[in-house]
Amino acid sequence: MQRIGVLTSGGDAPGMNAALRAVTREALARRAEVVGIRHGFAGIVRQEFIELSRSRVGGILERGGTILQTARYEEFKRPERQRQARAILRDQGLIGLIVIGGDGSFRAAQRLHLLGLPTIGIPATIDNDIPGTDMAIGVDTALNTVIRAIDRIRDTATSHSRAFVVEVMGRRSGYLALAAGLAAGAEIILVPEVPLDLRWVVSRIKRGEELGKQHSIIVVAEGVCPEGSAGYQIAREIAQQIDYEIRVTVLGHVQRGGSPSVFDRLLAVRLGAAAVDRLLDGSSGQMVALQGNAIITKKFSECLRRRKRIDRELLKLAHRLAAD
Ligand code: F6P
Repeated sequence: MQRIGVLTSGGDAPGMNAALRAVTREALARRAEVVGIRHGFAGIVRQEFIELSRSRVGGILERGGTILQTARYEEFKRPERQRQARAILRDQGLIGLIVIGGDGSFRAAQRLHLLGLPTIGIPATIDNDIPGTDMAIGVDTALNTVIRAIDRIRDTATSHSRAFVVEVMGRRSGYLALAAGLAAGAEIILVPEVPLDLRWVVSRIKRGEELGKQHSIIVVAEGVCPEGSAGYQIAREIAQQIDYEIRVTVLGHVQRGGSPSVFDRLLAVRLGAAAVDRLLDGSSGQMVALQGNAIITKKFSECLRRRKRIDRELLKLAHRLAAD
């Protein structure tokens, strides 16, 4: 019987469990055994293995987080750790490894692939910053969490005629800020990919006031100010230039939790099954991805050499619709 390994790595994302269930059950249906590895790549080195049966992955589809738990394991950048991991996985009799995570996790998977251990990636990160896939698992759920929060914040902002700075996750990627800002009708969206222009921010809040708006919602990705809290820093700067009451909400890790949305569950199920299919086919060094409504594969080497771009037209549209 063939044996495959599976792990979750990097920041957790809602839908990782749904992907784990799909991987396990698809593999079992195809007569392959599945070994779960706890705590990501660190768990390979520490040999934290558990056999995954049909029942072991029962009742997890709807649960946030990851039952295998996860880790960010910097140590894996060292070539001796990578060789050690390959040897351990081979000793376990694994024909390959499925890695559920983001771009950092795929870099580690690519290293194992180059060492001759087959790997397939499943994109899962709320940041949606992996080039080559339209969506990653977890993004849709996180967006729903953010827009529900903004809808509530708008109620109180309007009641008090206040500006609210809402800080969302995304150190290098403004996707979450852009998509949530657009979906929630935020007046201002600030992302790390576009240089911050505070004069423009202030003039926009003033213009909103002139138009009779009762609030201003400013969605800021955390990476807009790399040091400290972007939300508080921007609020402070605005407050120095304008006579308008400002409050700050940092949504933080709330965005990473919760039961996955229908979209994330469907994506996880499709990507999980496709990953097993590719690994058993003998493919390696690739991630399964969503393009339009199709599941495709992309080489890690292609995805990892570039950064995913922000859609600047969408950003302009959001600003046009919200306060002009
Ligand atoms: O990569 C996902 C993410 O949630 C980022 O948006 C955020 O910057 C980071 O992880 C936070 O990491 P940690 O949970 O380690 O604080």
